[in-house]
This record gives sequence, structure tokens and C-alpha cells, in this order.
Amino acid sequence: MKVPFFRYDWFFEENRDEMMAELDAIMSSGQYVNGEYTRKIEQKLAEICDRKYAVATGSCTDALFFALQTAGIKQGDEVILPPFSFVATLDSILRCGATPVFVDISAEHFMLDADSLEKAVTPRTKAIVLVQLFGNCHPQQAQIRDIAQRHDIPLIEDAAQALGTKEQNIPAGKIGNLSCISFDPTKIVSAYGTGGAVLTDDEAEYAMLKKLVNHGFEDGIPQIAGYNSKISETQAAMLLAQLEKFHQTISRMTEVAKRYYSLLDGIDDITLPQHCFHPNFHKFVIKAEKRDELRIFLKENGIETKIHYSTLLSEQKILDGRKYLKHDLSNAKMVTKKVLSLPIWSSISEAETLYVCECIKRFYALS
Ligand SMILES: Cc1ncc(COP(=O)(O)O)c(C=O)c1O
Repeated sequence: MKVPFFRYDWFFEENRDEMMAELDAIMSSGQYVNGEYTRKIEQKLAEICDRKYAVATGSCTDALFFALQTAGIKQGDEVILPPFSFVATLDSILRCGATPVFVDISAEHFMLDADSLEKAVTPRTKAIVLVQLFGNCHPQQAQIRDIAQRHDIPLIEDAAQALGTKEQNIPAGKIGNLSCISFDPTKIVSAYGTGGAVLTDDEAEYAMLKKLVNHGFEDGIPQIAGYNSKISETQAAMLLAQLEKFHQTISRMTEVAKRYYSLLDGIDDITLPQHCFHPNFHKFVIKAEKRDELRIFLKENGIETKIHYSTLLSEQKILDGRKYLKHDLSNAKMVTKKVLSLPIWSSISEAETLYVCECIKRFYALS
């Protein structure tokens, strides 16, 4: 049997007729940007994340950059972030000319360690970026928000992977002064291309974001030097179709994850992922002793896995020649050597997950 890591086309396969009819209508309408679908996904996102405003963007990478800009981050400002994330978390800080300050993660939930964060904040800290990783909300997200508030520092939430998740009754996308979502093709709600959004409750920030995504325009006049980071109406319609069914998508992901939890329970060499109160299981990331050998064995048996993330952001080449600061990152360093992401998507079959688990068990019995 062959098990890919992910299937990009599962939603389209299940909803082809409906989606093709929407595309036909949009293509015939002549309204390709700034239309009703963009407004509808913005409204829907604001509803899901319990925010006043959402602004759709061309990607979450842009969303993060616009959020930092809106929070006033500029050349030389220090911005705290975890070293264990996708490179876009770092890119957006570098695009502002700011100085990244890396603070360690928890070895259990893989996100910023709240105590280390508290100790790392200084008067030079101008923003904190909280990454909600692998389809979870940070278990102490309210504590993280309190740290930011106590120090009067904007909290930027990178909730790229966490749409629909909840912890302490707070949905992902709610906790940041500005929060960012991704619709990259791997995400729980995904574009057939790219897309993202920024969320805020502040009217002035909303006005700024609207300008940034559309050439600086306000009342038909460019007011600032902006960008062109709109989402197309076709993408927005495809996202809306998924947003309307995304509770079902999360339930299906949860069923798959439950299967993994039960079938992999009791293998000493494997630590199963911690999850928040209401996860979306965007990724199913185990920690495995002999991770690299296990990965090779699975590959030999037709199973594709990935490593999120094998290189810490603090060790990325893009930092060469740039100023950055790092605290003790022992947990993050250890975690990169052990994490392994197993295949997961909404329509992965029972037989496929069974096969993955059988192969993992076979590997540990043999070794
Ligand atoms: C944690 C995190 N931040 C930011 C991004 C960037 O999102 P996008 O691909 O929409 O620009 C991603 C996407 O893959 C991500 O996983």
C-alpha cells in the first residue's frame, strides 16, 4: 500500500459540481476582486474567531507582515518569536527590518514556553509573536496575552494552522491584538493557490489593514505606500464553500486522530501529541526515538512522512549577516531531532491509518 502525506484535492473531489458552478458564475460576472465573496469570507472569519474585523490577504505571510506594520514595528525593533515554526513567521519580522529574539518552546506542546517568555521580555521588546502550532491553541494562551498586556506590548498571533481550534474557551484568532490565518493548500480551509487574513477588534487598525492590502487606497486615493495583496473572488468562493463545511472537516480530522491515538497507544518509544481542548489536527506530530530510522522504514513501506520542523528558525540561512538574539533553546533543539508528522487529511481511510500504525509497530518490534 502507498500512503501519501496529504491529499490536496479531497474537498474538490467531494464537492466538484457545486464548486464548478460557483467558478462558472464568477468567471462570467467580471467581478474578480473586491467582491461579495471576499466580504463574505471576511464576515465568516470574524464570526468564527469572535473578532470585529477581518481583512483577507494574498497569504498569511503578507498577513503577518501587515499585522506587524499595523502594530508599528519598524527597523531595529525587537520582536520575540518561537524558533520552532514555518519560516514565514520569521520572514515577516525581517521584512519589517526588526530584530528577531528567539525564546524557547515547551517540549510537550511545542509552542512558546510561557515562563521563558516572561523572563525574556525587556523594555526593548516591541511585539510578541505567538504561533498556534499544528492545529492547536496554546494551552496557556490567556497567560501569554496577560504577559503582553502587562508589558503593554502588542501580541501578534500567528494562527496560520489553527483556524477552528479553541482553548480556555478562546478560539484561535481571538487572542492577538492582530491575528493571522493562512489558507495555504495544506490548511484546514485551503485555497487552490494562496490566501490569508488578518483579524482585529480595532477600527483604526482595520482601516490601516484595508489600505495596506490595496495600494494604500482610502476613499479612492492612495494615502500610504501600500501593497497589492488581495484575494481573488474565485479563491474566496472556494474558501467560503469550505468554511461552510469546516466543522464537519474538523470532526473528520478528529476521527482520524482518534484512530492514531488508540492504535499507537502504549509504544514506549513514541510520544503522542498533546492537543488543546478543541484541536483541528492540521498535523499529527509524534515524537519518536530513532525518528530517522523509523522514517526510512516507513518510506520503504510506501508511507510518506514529513518533519515539521527540521531546522530551527534561529538556524536558518536567511539570518546570515543579520542581527538577531537567542535565549536558551534547548527544548526546541531536542524537539527538532524527534518530531515526525504522520499522514493526515480529512478523507484518509481507516485502512490507510491502520497500515501506518502497523508499520510503526513492526519497526519497533524489529528494532
Ligand atoms: C505557522 C505558519 N505561519 C505562517 C505561514 C504562512 O502562511 P502562507 O503560506 O499562507 O503565507 C504558515 C504556512 O504555511 C504557517 O504554517
